[in-house]
Amino acid sequence: MDQKALKIEAARAALGHVEDGMRLGIGTGTTAAEFVRLLAEKVHAGMRIIGVPTSERTAALCEELGVPLSTLEQTPELDLTVDGADEVDPRLNLIKGGGGALLREKIVAAASARMIVIADDSKLVDTLGRFPLPIEVNGFGMKATEIAITRASSALGLSGQLTLRMTEGRPFVTDGGHFILDASFGRIPDTRALSNALLAIPGVVEHGLFLGMASLAIVAGADGIRSVHAS
Ligand code: A5P
Repeated sequence: MDQKALKIEAARAALGHVEDGMRLGIGTGTTAAEFVRLLAEKVHAGMRIIGVPTSERTAALCEELGVPLSTLEQTPELDLTVDGADEVDPRLNLIKGGGGALLREKIVAAASARMIVIADDSKLVDTLGRFPLPIEVNGFGMKATEIAITRASSALGLSGQLTLRMTEGRPFVTDGGHFILDASFGRIPDTRALSNALLAIPGVVEHGLFLGMASLAIVAGADGIRSVHAS
């Protein structure tokens, strides 16, 4: 099975957790997009759900496929969020934001009673950090914020390049109008300490460490689907 087929299988398994009448957070990325496609089929077959998208991209896909949408203003409490991830560790801590939607993804996940992560098994790691950690920063004073991030991470024994994310020759701008610095730490042994240190920096809007948020990961591999529960 190729990676796309694995993503579809993980998305299909997550759909089994969606019940009629649910208020759903809908993730961003290629795996979440497969979930949206399958969800749309259910909606067309009569399932009643309302979705809150985690990005403009996901909103556009939902609209195109006829998945009914709401906002956190109208629907501030959600039953379940289904989203992808860039890395998943054995305790279901995650790195997210490879698609640049980490801020809305985190707000939506935090407003949900449960979060299910869907992924192919290439996303499983023992220790987070091989995937560069996306850090969303305000455009004001970005150089000072960058220096503060370097200092804070060095104090935790972390080193690595901070790279301003670019797209088509220009800095990538998030849905919230911010920028992303991708931090290549390699390994992040103490994710909680790094999270706290980053959030103490005023120019940091949010970061892509999702700690203790997911309750279930549905991981598709060549041997089939595996459910990993948060311990
Ligand atoms: C979007 O900002 C990300 O958090 C995605 O959920 C993550 O990058 C996974 O994307 P893929 O499913 O495309 O790998």
